Amino acid sequence: MRILIVNGPNLNLLGTREPEIYGKMTYESLNEELQAYAKKNKLSLEIRQSNLEGIIIDLLHYAAFEKFDGVCLNAAAYTHYAYAIYDAIKAIDVPVVEVHLTDPARRPEPFRKVSVIEDACVATFKGEGITSYKKAIAYLCGVENHDH
Ligand code: DQA
Repeated sequence: MRILIVNGPNLNLLGTREPEIYGKMTYESLNEELQAYAKKNKLSLEIRQSNLEGIIIDLLHYAAFEKFDGVCLNAAAYTHYAYAIYDAIKAIDVPVVEVHLTDPARRPEPFRKVSVIEDACVATFKGEGITSYKKAIAYLCGVENHDH
């Protein structure tokens, strides 16, 4: 099983970015913990991050060209307005799961209430920090009792 994780804008700043909202775990630690999770569950995980919409779209195409089994996508703020990412998810034959550390709909800014990519994704996991990612990976593997 090969899974690609794609992280969008500002997620590279985890640890120092609004820690009262996103927590103190750094982006590097997040990746290390997810790689340890993948190893424990005998998966191959590639993790990429970009602050640019076009690169995120290229990474979705890459997932299809390289025949990944699934993508976990935290499109960050692009979630709320990037129709080209919606189109890219629809354009590939790889299942994409939407992931968020927080639950955007429960946050105060009105623009976060809408996810324009949700309908193109096979599932959404949100509001559980790193566990949102682990649940998304487990979902793609079709496994309920992954060792978290
Ligand atoms: C986020 C939620 C988005 O609303 C926000 O723009 C982010 C991070 C999350 O993981 O909680 O950058 O996707």
